[in-house]
Amino acid sequence: MNQPVMGGVAPLNAPAYIKQQKLINWVAEIAALTKPDRIYWCDGSQEEYDRLCAEMVAAGTMKKLNQEKRPNSYLACSDPTDVARVEDRTFICSTTKEQAGPTNNWMDPAEMRATLHPLFDGCMTGRTMYVVPFSMGPLGSPIAHIGVELSDSPYVAVNMRTMTRMGKAVYDVLGTDGEFVPCVHTVGAPLKAGQQDVAWPCNSTKYIVHYPETREIWSFGSGYGGNALLGKKCFALRIASNMGFQDAQNGGAGWLAEHMLILGVESPEGKKHYVAAAFPSACGKTNFAMLIPPGTFNGWKITTIGDDIAWIKPGADGKLYAINPEAGYFGVAPGTNEKTNYNCMASLRENTIFTNVALTDDGDVWWEGLSKPAPSHLIDWQGKDWTPESTGKAAHPNARFTVPATQNPVIDAAWDDPAGVPISAFIFGGRRSTTVPLVTEARNWVEGVYMAATMGSETTAAAAGQMGVVRRDPFAMLPFIGYNMSDYFQHWLDLGKKVEKIEGATLPKIFCVNWFRTDEQGHFVWPGFGDNMRVLKWMLERIEGEAGGVENIFGTTPRFGDIHWDGMPFSPEEFETITSIDKDAWREELKLHEELFTKLAYRLPAELTAVKAELEKRLAR
Ligand code: GTP
Ligand code: SPV
Ligand code: MN
Repeated sequence: MNQPVMGGVAPLNAPAYIKQQKLINWVAEIAALTKPDRIYWCDGSQEEYDRLCAEMVAAGTMKKLNQEKRPNSYLACSDPTDVARVEDRTFICSTTKEQAGPTNNWMDPAEMRATLHPLFDGCMTGRTMYVVPFSMGPLGSPIAHIGVELSDSPYVAVNMRTMTRMGKAVYDVLGTDGEFVPCVHTVGAPLKAGQQDVAWPCNSTKYIVHYPETREIWSFGSGYGGNALLGKKCFALRIASNMGFQDAQNGGAGWLAEHMLILGVESPEGKKHYVAAAFPSACGKTNFAMLIPPGTFNGWKITTIGDDIAWIKPGADGKLYAINPEAGYFGVAPGTNEKTNYNCMASLRENTIFTNVALTDDGDVWWEGLSKPAPSHLIDWQGKDWTPESTGKAAHPNARFTVPATQNPVIDAAWDDPAGVPISAFIFGGRRSTTVPLVTEARNWVEGVYMAATMGSETTAAAAGQMGVVRRDPFAMLPFIGYNMSDYFQHWLDLGKKVEKIEGATLPKIFCVNWFRTDEQGHFVWPGFGDNMRVLKWMLERIEGEAGGVENIFGTTPRFGDIHWDGMPFSPEEFETITSIDKDAWREELKLHEELFTKLAYRLPAELTAVKAELEKRLAR
């Protein structure tokens, strides 16, 4: 490692295998601004990962877990003020405010640069700047995009190795003039000479900033998740959604970057479909992506392509093809157990970084919902003693694991196929304790886009802010869309129209689901998890034209008899409680759609207002 140069500029020492001068110049420029003591170029090797983890253990940032119980795994506990994405500190700094749209925080790019410059000036003093080259999507594939993250957090460097294709080989793809998205990240906690570091440095001032025109990401003050692992939400959703839109604006076919899991489902007869599902943060994507069908579904198989992000492009054959740009899962730990998600638990057996879960006395991890009863003693995520009598939670509700996708026992054979997989259906689902029925099939693409656009969900711990309030979360993309939401709706509509024109085209069907309706006592009525297979099966049968259903105000829904119930005691009355349509509740709901449309009125597609008028007419009958 390079020697620190106090008060000067750390030696660059770019490895000889990097052939791109533009990249080296950029690293030098950012180093001159942020003034790290050292620059370290990550090669992505296992040796490097192990070494950085060992350094973090020595520094108190991570604990090594019991090597027998949880081989090569670590626990990191964050500062209690740095536990989730900060949506109110996230900015889309496009040239005009209209381009960012009314759902995004916006600041004039020049003003934002002027704001950030003094914050980044000297922000890495006393620290090492890690140069983290990564590919979103299979290395070298024509649909992959490359980024380079400069970060003063070794936690970010090791997590990026799991979450993306990170390392030396990226430079071969970049060559002398390949394009990359420059990502600058700092925890915003420079160290004065001799100053003792803390376990989780961060800053109470936070900025998560995107410049879509120049495709740059600048993140200040947080070391947690989507705030800091810039390949994920910042690049693969906000910047990428903008790229897909711009492609269409510039005469290309256009593409989509979505907050969606992708799964494969194979029937006993060997018929296989892929579906992509958008649920807001902490609403069940990882669970659905690894679902194990109930025992009575003999011969049905679910396989995972991805659990959080999908990039979707139209093919020449009129099908939509999806890839998972990530290489790992950064999933919610609480609630995960052998029953709710067996495959996830199997994935977490080794080589996992846990963040903000509790530590057991034998050096393993625990979180709420993992086992009952809770262990009699734990160290909670804030490092304090915890017993079942303690009032607080042992693990933070947004505690997460970082694990390589390849450890998933049901990973799909095509999970890293650069060609992607053809999508048969899109599923949209929010967390709604009332109003929204278990499943509804849109009558057509435009109605499906309307359903997705007006989706609401109760907020979760995945974002800092008030929990449990219903907010509109169009396409589960509210915090992740890198441009104007109305333009995004139009982009979906246009893509549908373009694809429909292709000879032999089959647009995916669009469904809307809600696993979360509750009874008077506030308990979930639908068992969820593996039993969601019953709903998925109905959808597949609809695609095949085999299953029945009944058309209502909003679309087509299954009757009790249209669902496969073997092995699940569920009465028609219970089914009624989660599928009934309460007209009064829906009149109230439509008011919220109206509120959203008023907010998005500028450039809102007229087709969507037309769907709304139709629904209102049906509702009035
Ligand atoms: P992000 O990673 O934040 O984008 O979220 P995700 O959608 O992948 O979330 P995840 O699958 O980790 O969801 C976690 C939460 O959803 C936990 O609290 C689970 O218990 C709950 N959950 C998942 N599936 C179901 C379900 O079918 N029914 C119910 N009631 N809860 C579910
Ligand atoms: C989400 O919040 O939707 C996540 C976790 O997937 S994070 O990467 O922190 O955004
Ligand atoms: Mn997510």
